[in-house]
Amino acid sequence: MMSFNPKSKSDIIKCVLKEQSKEWIPRKEVAQAYASANFALIKYWGKESEELMIPKTNSLSVSLAKEFGTTTKIDVNTNRDRFILNKVEISSESSEFKKLFNFIDLFRYKELPLKIISNNDLSTASGLATSASGFASIVLALNKLFEWNLTKEKLSILARLGSVSASRSIYSKGFVELVKNNNTPYSFSKQLNYTWEGLSVGILQFNTLKKDVSSSKGMKITARNSILYREGWEKQVKYDLKNIHIALQEQNWSLFQDTVQTNALAMHATAISAGVIYWSYDTFKTIKEVFKLQKKGVHICFTEDAGEHIKLFSDDKKIIEKYFPDARIVELF
Ligand code: DP6
Repeated sequence: MMSFNPKSKSDIIKCVLKEQSKEWIPRKEVAQAYASANFALIKYWGKESEELMIPKTNSLSVSLAKEFGTTTKIDVNTNRDRFILNKVEISSESSEFKKLFNFIDLFRYKELPLKIISNNDLSTASGLATSASGFASIVLALNKLFEWNLTKEKLSILARLGSVSASRSIYSKGFVELVKNNNTPYSFSKQLNYTWEGLSVGILQFNTLKKDVSSSKGMKITARNSILYREGWEKQVKYDLKNIHIALQEQNWSLFQDTVQTNALAMHATAISAGVIYWSYDTFKTIKEVFKLQKKGVHICFTEDAGEHIKLFSDDKKIIEKYFPDARIVELF
C-alpha cells in the first residue's frame, strides 16, 4: 500500500476494494443504512489534494448517535438515476444530483441505474453536517448492496472521497479522529476510546436557509487568500489536538472548553480574513451570552462550523436546557 501512488479517486477505490472490485454486481435489490451527523471539536479546514480529498490536517469530532443523521436507501429497481432527498425529487440538472452521482459513478457500471432515497434529521447544507451523514450513509448502503464486507476504517476512506467530514460519520457514536496519513492517500477515521458520561450537545439552528458559501468553497477561498491560514492553521490544529486528547482523557472541562472554542474561532478567523463570513447577528449574540455564562463558572461552551448555527456543549444537559431552552439537545454517551 505504501509504494502505491494513486492519481485519482478510482485508483484509491481499486486499492481499498481489491478483490471486491473485480465484479460490480449488486447482491441485493435494495440496501439501506443510517449514519449519524458529527460535529467537529477540532476542525478539518482545507485540502492538501482536491482530487484525492486529502485533508490538510487531522480532525476530531463527536458523533450524534441515533438522534441526528441520514438514512439512505439504494434501490436498483429503476430505469434511470433518481435522487429523492427528504421526500423531494432532486432535478438531474442540480449540483446536488451531480455531486451525488459523480460519487456513485466511481462504484458502478454506467448501465446500473439507481434510485437513492435519503432522509435527513437535520436541515441540509446549512452548516449542520448533513453532507457528512449523507455520504457516510451512502457508503454504508453500498457496502450492503455489493456485500463488500469492509472494515469501518476502509469504509471511512471511501466516504472521505465524497466529503472529507463524511469519513468521521462512518462511526455513529463517540469521539472519532480523522488521521491524515502523510505518506499515503489513505487518510482514514478511527474510533477513539474516550467516553464522557453526561456530555451533551445543544443545537441552535437559527434558520433553515441554504448557506451562501459551501464549506468546500469557503475553505478553498481561505487557503488561497489567507496568510493567517497558510502560516498558522496547521500549527493551531497540532496544538489543539494535543490539548483535546488530554481534555478527553481527563474529562477536564476547562481544557475542553478552551480548546474547542479556540479551534472554532481560529477556523473562522482564517475564513473571515479571506472575506468568508458565516456569522450572523444571532451567532455573535449567542457567543457573547456563552462568554458571560462562562465568567460565572457555568460549564457551557460553543463551536460553529461553516454556517451561522451554534452547537453548545456541556457536561450536564440541564445547563443547556436552563440557559438555551430553544436548543435541540442530544446526550452523547
Ligand atoms: C467546517 O466535509 O463539508 O464542517 O470535504 O469539501 O465536502 P468537503 O467539505 P466538508 O467540510 C466540513 C468543514 C467543517 C469542519 C469539519 O466538519 O471538520
